[in-house]
Amino acid sequence: MIRQIDNYFVIETKNLSYIFHKNKVGYLVNDYFGNKIQIDEQSIESLGLKEAFPKGTSTIVDESVDPTFSADNQLLEYSFAGKGDNKEPAIIIKNDKRGYVFDFRFFKAEIKKEIVDIKLVPMPNHLDEELIISLKDSDLNIVLELHYYIANEFDVIVRNTVLINNEDEVLSIRKIASLQFDTINKNFEVLNLNGAWIGESHPEKQKLHRGIYINDSKSGLSSNAHNTFFLIKEEKATMDYGEVYSFNLMYSGNHQELVELNAYDHVHIQSGINPIFFDYKLNKGEIFVTPFALMTYSAKGYNLSSQRMADFINACVVNEHFAGHLRPVLINNWEATYFNFNEAKLISIAKKAKAFGLELFVLDDGWFGRRTNDTKGLGDYDVNKKKLRHGLKGLADKINKLGLKFGLWMEPEGISVDSSIFEQHPEYAISLERIKPSFGRHQLVMNLAKKEVQDYLINSVSEVLDSANIEYVKWDMNRNITDFPGNGQFHHDFVLGLYRVLETLTSKYPTILFENCSSGGNRLDLGMLHYFPQTWASDCSDHYERISIQGGLYFGYPLSCITGHVSAHLNHQLLRDTPYADKFPVAAFSCLGYELALDELTSLQEKVIKSQISFYKDHRQLLQYGDFYKIKEKEYAGDSAVWMVKAKDNKEAIIGYFNGLQSATPKETIIRHLGLEEGKRYQLSVFAHDHELKHFGSLVNMVLPFHINPDGALMRLINKYKTMPKENDNYVLDGSILNNGLILKSEWAGNGVSEDVRILKDFGSRLYYIKMVE
Ligand code: DGJ
Repeated sequence: MIRQIDNYFVIETKNLSYIFHKNKVGYLVNDYFGNKIQIDEQSIESLGLKEAFPKGTSTIVDESVDPTFSADNQLLEYSFAGKGDNKEPAIIIKNDKRGYVFDFRFFKAEIKKEIVDIKLVPMPNHLDEELIISLKDSDLNIVLELHYYIANEFDVIVRNTVLINNEDEVLSIRKIASLQFDTINKNFEVLNLNGAWIGESHPEKQKLHRGIYINDSKSGLSSNAHNTFFLIKEEKATMDYGEVYSFNLMYSGNHQELVELNAYDHVHIQSGINPIFFDYKLNKGEIFVTPFALMTYSAKGYNLSSQRMADFINACVVNEHFAGHLRPVLINNWEATYFNFNEAKLISIAKKAKAFGLELFVLDDGWFGRRTNDTKGLGDYDVNKKKLRHGLKGLADKINKLGLKFGLWMEPEGISVDSSIFEQHPEYAISLERIKPSFGRHQLVMNLAKKEVQDYLINSVSEVLDSANIEYVKWDMNRNITDFPGNGQFHHDFVLGLYRVLETLTSKYPTILFENCSSGGNRLDLGMLHYFPQTWASDCSDHYERISIQGGLYFGYPLSCITGHVSAHLNHQLLRDTPYADKFPVAAFSCLGYELALDELTSLQEKVIKSQISFYKDHRQLLQYGDFYKIKEKEYAGDSAVWMVKAKDNKEAIIGYFNGLQSATPKETIIRHLGLEEGKRYQLSVFAHDHELKHFGSLVNMVLPFHINPDGALMRLINKYKTMPKENDNYVLDGSILNNGLILKSEWAGNGVSEDVRILKDFGSRLYYIKMVE
C-alpha cells in the first residue's frame, strides 16, 4: 500500500516499508527502507537523520526557507548538480538558458491505482499502485517525475524517472538515473556479478571504500563483464543472516551502477543508463522515460533477498504468456554437430531424444544461406538445401511426427559482409564513414536504431516463423557494438529499436517460447527477460564452472529464467572429463537441456540420461519454481557447494551436493538448516549414480574374478553392461533432524566400494530428494 502521512510518503509491501518525506525546501529525504515498521503521525518523525546544523563547509540550498538544510549532508531520493550536493548527481542536464544548474523542488504528489504501461521501455506487469512525485525547476518549465510502484504480493519496489521539457530550448540529458537510494553504512560490502565469455556472472564481493565504486557496461549490451544486478550487504551477512539490499535494472544496453561512500559514512547508490556516450536531446514537449529499476531488502541474509527478487521476476517481469509455465526439456544440436549436419544426422539425434523423454528439438546455427561456418551468411534467411533437403518445414514436420516440438536458432541482429543482405543493403550495418569497421566473430551488427532495419528484421523473422511449425526460438547476438554514431543517442536508440522488434514479434507470436542468448550471458538482463522468459546463461557447459555462473545469477534471477545443458562428458570449453551422472545435478538447477550427440552414447550412458530426464520431469515444478537456497557457497576454485530448492509449503525439497577437488581426508557431509517442518516426517532419498567401471581403472581387478586390461577392449565391453554399486543414502526421519544435522554416508577415501560409501571423485555431485510423508 502507498499512502501519505503529512509530508511523508509511505510505501509498504507485504513485509517491507520504504519511507521518505519532502522537507521545507521541497527536497525529498529518505527516512527508512527495511522490514515493515508501525508508524503514525507522531512516530514517523523519529525516523531519518537528525541534521540540526549544516556541517563545516557545506552550502545551504535555500537559507531563507531552511538555514540548516544542506543537500550534501542528507540521505536523498535524487541528487542534483550545482546546489551543494557534492555526491554524484542522479541527473545531469543542460540547456542554453540555464547551463547545468537546475533548482528542482517538490511540486505535487499523486497516488494511482490504475497503472498504465506506455510501452516505451519494458515495464513490469501486474503492478498495483504507483506514487508519482513531480519536481519542478523553480524558474523553468521543466518537470522531473520520480515514480515508485509496488505489486501487493511481492516485496520489491520498482522505480523509474521521467523528464519533461516544456521549454523552447533543447534540453540535453547527459545522465538520468532510474533509481537513487541513500542509506547509512553498516559495514557494507558490494557484490557484483562479473566475468567474461564462458566465465560469466561470477559473484565478487568487495568492501566499500571512500569514493565511488562503479559497475558498468560500455559495450552496447548489458554485457558478460558486469551484470546489471548487484547487492550491498553487511560484511558479516551470510546466506541466512544479516542485512542485504539488492537492485536490478530492466535494461539491455550500457548501464551504470554506482556506490559512493562519503566521509560521514553515507552510502549513495544509483542505477541507470550509463552516461558514457549518452547525450539525449529533448525538444519542447518531449519526454524521456528511464528504464525501470528494482530494489528489495532482507534482514535475513541473501537467500531471502534472492527469493524476493525471483518471485517478483517470475510473476511480474517475464513475458506474461510464460509466467509460471513449466519450461520444456530440450535437445540442442550445437555442441553435437556445430555447422556440420544434415537432415539425417538431426533426425538420428531427435529419435534418441524422443526415446529418452525429451520434449523439444532445437536446430542451432548453420541452417541458412551461405552459413557453412561463422564467417558468412548472417542476415540471410533462405534455407540451406544442401543440409536440409526438405527445407525447414520438412524437418519440422519430421520432428513433430516423432512427437517432439521444433525450435530454431536465429541471430537477427548479426550481419555478415559475405551475405546477400549485406550486398544489397550495406547501410543496414552499424558503421562509420571513412574508417574501417571492427569485426566481432567476423560479423557486423544490424543498425536497430533505424526503423527500416527494425522492419526488415520483423518481416524476415516473421516469414521464417510462418514457414514451419516453430514453437521455440533461440535468439542469439554474438558481438558487442563498435563504430557507433556520435550523436549521444545511438546506444539508447539501438536498445529501444531492439525492444520494438521484440515487442512486435512476441505479441505477434505469443505462444512461441523465445530463449535469450548472447554468446551465452552477454546480454542477460531483466529487459530481455521481459520478452524472452529464459536465457542461455553461458556458452560454458562445464558443470563445475556452471556452479559459479548459475550460483552468481541466482543471487538475483530465478531458476526458471536460466537454462543449463548437459553436454558431452569431455567438456568442449574446459576439456574437463566428467561422467554424465555428475554433470546433470547442476543443470537440474535450471531449465534443463541436453547438447550432445545422443545417438553416439553407450547403452549405460543412455540409461543414465534417461533416468535423469525422468527425474527432472517428475520434479520440474520444484526445480524451476521452488525457493532457491544456498546452503554452502562455492568460495574458491576447487571448493564444494550445496544448494537447495524447496517448495513454499515445505512439503518437498531437492538438495544438490557439488564436490570440488576430492580430498584424501574427506570431511563428513552434514545436511542441515533446511527449515523443514519439525514434527513432520520426511523421506530423504539419494538420486544415486550408476558408476561406470572404467572410471575405476585397474582397481576393477580387485572385484572382478579375472584380470582385465583397464584400457583394453574387454574393459570397454564390460563397461557397457556392468556398473559399480550405487550408494543407498535413504532415510525416513523427522524434519527436526534434517534441520539440525543429518550426516550422510562417508565418502570414498582410497577404499571402500559398497552401497554404504559415497563415491564422489573430483567434481562429483549428487541430488537428494526430500518429501514430507504423512
Ligand atoms: C553462441 C551461442 O551461445 C551458442 O550456444 C551457439 O548458438 C552459437 N552462438 C551458434 O553460433
